[in-house]
Amino acid sequence: MKSVLIVDDSDDARSLVAACLKKMGYESESAPDGTQAIELAARKKYDLILLDIEMPGLDGFQTLERIREAGASQNSNVMMVTAHSDKESVAKAIALGACDFVVKPFDSGQFLHKVSRYINQEVEQEWKKLKPEQQAVLSITLTTLDKAFKSVLENHPLPYEDFRETSEKIMTIIEKGDVKGVLDAVKEHDSYTFVHSLRVGIFLSMFMERLAGFNREDIMTLTSGGIIHDVGKAKTPLKILNKPGSFEPEEWREMKNHVDYTVEILKKTPGIPAPVMEIAWCHHEKLDGSGYPRGLKGDEISVLARMSAIADVYVALTDKRVYKPGFPPEKALEMMRNPGHLDQALVTEFAAIISELYGITIP
Ligand SMILES: [Fe+2]
Ligand SMILES: [Fe+2]
Repeated sequence: MKSVLIVDDSDDARSLVAACLKKMGYESESAPDGTQAIELAARKKYDLILLDIEMPGLDGFQTLERIREAGASQNSNVMMVTAHSDKESVAKAIALGACDFVVKPFDSGQFLHKVSRYINQEVEQEWKKLKPEQQAVLSITLTTLDKAFKSVLENHPLPYEDFRETSEKIMTIIEKGDVKGVLDAVKEHDSYTFVHSLRVGIFLSMFMERLAGFNREDIMTLTSGGIIHDVGKAKTPLKILNKPGSFEPEEWREMKNHVDYTVEILKKTPGIPAPVMEIAWCHHEKLDGSGYPRGLKGDEISVLARMSAIADVYVALTDKRVYKPGFPPEKALEMMRNPGHLDQALVTEFAAIISELYGITIP
């Protein structure tokens, strides 16, 4: 689990930030002053240190200087937290090796976005070892989803052209046999929606390619649908999105609303092809009618919707979440042998793709 050190002389500020980080699944430790922070940072490598500037005793600058001198967290990212963002303080903090600044009181969404960016930096650095086409897929998907999430929150149309460009790049790495490297590279990335959406896009693309009858243009559209399918989750509160296990009825309703949020923004976006809408609207429908949002049954669920449900369920089961490790592919496919929910003939086709990709035997 990723670990953050919170350094602040205010008890309230420390517990507020700790609660905020917990929603993202980050573990945190805290120090009320610079001296204790230096001791903790010397002993343990934190993925990020949040350092208040105005503290009695050693201030944030002096503390940062000492952390940088030696110890386990010597090279950790340090984000300064302050009530005043004057140019002089910013310049001083950057010169001492801080990576960023956040001004109190802050918006928790923007704050967590920044935190996640720095925490994922190490994983993203590793991407530089990949082939240029693989790196391009990862960075363009990250940027496109970032933009899309912002659009959802601001109620603006989605950047659909960017999704098409992203899909084109995904299809190229699949065609060249380079897709496994990309799937491996996101294993340790903790931005759930980015990893989940990219993986659904990839698996749906491979699924479509396997079944006859789709041309390249079709597959590109459907790959875009896969990456877009959950953008409405931008509006789902993190405490619900990252909640382990069972939901209260009200929370479950809110969780299910992500489908409506996605459909709403797609309707607002000109030029969205019907299959993209279909994937977003129907990927949680189940053959026995127990799915959502419409509770469609049997033949009412199109082949495309059935395929989307399979890709989505497989990815959800194998996704690593803040509250669970991902299931191995064999176990996930075994759990998908549920004729009430998923089309079993299509699950068999899908299992063949997974078996080929990972070189594993599926019973
Ligand atoms: Fe969904
Ligand atoms: Fe999903």
